[in-house]
Amino acid sequence: MCGVAGLFTGCTALTPCPPPPPVPPGAGGPPGAGGSPYAGGPPYAAAPDDVPAAGSPYAPDPYRSPFGDWYERVAARPPLRRALVLPEGTAPFSPALAPVTGHPLVRALPAAAQTRLLALHAHRYLGFTARLEHLVVNRTALGIAHGTLGVDLPEEMRFDAYKLYCDEAWHALTAADLARQLRHATGVAAPDAGTPAFLARLAAVREAVGPRSAQLAELVFVVCSETLVSATLPAGAEDPLMPAALRDTLRDHARDEVRHHAYFAAFLRLLWAGLDARQRRTAGRLVPRAVAAFLGPDLPALRADLASAGLRPGEAEQVLAETHPPHAVAAYAREAARPALGHFAELGVLDDPYVREELAAHGLSWDAHVT
Ligand SMILES: [Fe+2]
Ligand SMILES: [Fe+2]
Repeated sequence: MCGVAGLFTGCTALTPCPPPPPVPPGAGGPPGAGGSPYAGGPPYAAAPDDVPAAGSPYAPDPYRSPFGDWYERVAARPPLRRALVLPEGTAPFSPALAPVTGHPLVRALPAAAQTRLLALHAHRYLGFTARLEHLVVNRTALGIAHGTLGVDLPEEMRFDAYKLYCDEAWHALTAADLARQLRHATGVAAPDAGTPAFLARLAAVREAVGPRSAQLAELVFVVCSETLVSATLPAGAEDPLMPAALRDTLRDHARDEVRHHAYFAAFLRLLWAGLDARQRRTAGRLVPRAVAAFLGPDLPALRADLASAGLRPGEAEQVLAETHPPHAVAAYAREAARPALGHFAELGVLDDPYVREELAAHGLSWDAHVT
């Protein structure tokens, strides 16, 4: 999955936000202060496993490879190294994908500081993509290819994992390449903000469920992240303000991810067929945590970006609170996660009351009628 969805770019990158729900007295609070489920969610507590999870009537279809013409496509890749140039009138990144840049306090900064902020956003997007592909998705691709996940998969699907691995490695390489070019073109280096929030949240989920279910948690994370909004071109791919190299890379990446979406939807069905009732419940309850881990904003990194652009700490907090209110973060996650949740719903996963309880706790209540 392309890093734009996981970057939390705000609802404008997907669809218009629904109006915010009424906030009960005492609810909410500043982002990152516990008011948002994306601050980490409620503590994980194992659900009873003596009640069987809702059984799935689903019998997996035979695997149909979405990688049929992969060799023809990959043959066109070597000439496609994108040269990043920033002609007059372009910005290092799409302001539509960087909601903080629309805030009055940011717009009051000197133009050079606003451009710096967009360059930092571009670096975070590129860094997110490289880490996600290398450190998470390709770890699962390796496990599938070499049959080490304990999931019974057709030989064709294991072979396709070699291709998927190449795709993700290419996405990581192009992201790293563009980040270096961006540094040369703008003089703005990638910020060293430590572990990105999505990786820290994934590690926390793995730790919370314990070693027995940690691998299952990571598989759920990968399935969710690979089946989110990959069928939809990110808004930045159409933004003429973006450098052509970034736009074209986003478009290429989204094209590959359509294939990955189909692949991981099929993988989920086969994974599910091999789980017992207790494992299904565990996996189902991890879905909203995986979605939140992937889609929640990286507030510490954004805070550092704003400080680097010249805002005082109080101003940065105001910008974050007003551009990332909990209702907007939850609305973005609901919209972006809809395709992924649909795949789990087809398997009956979301019929389990314990799963529905977790979804609600993360602001992801599922209503099949609005899909
Ligand atoms: Fe990718
Ligand atoms: Fe992918």
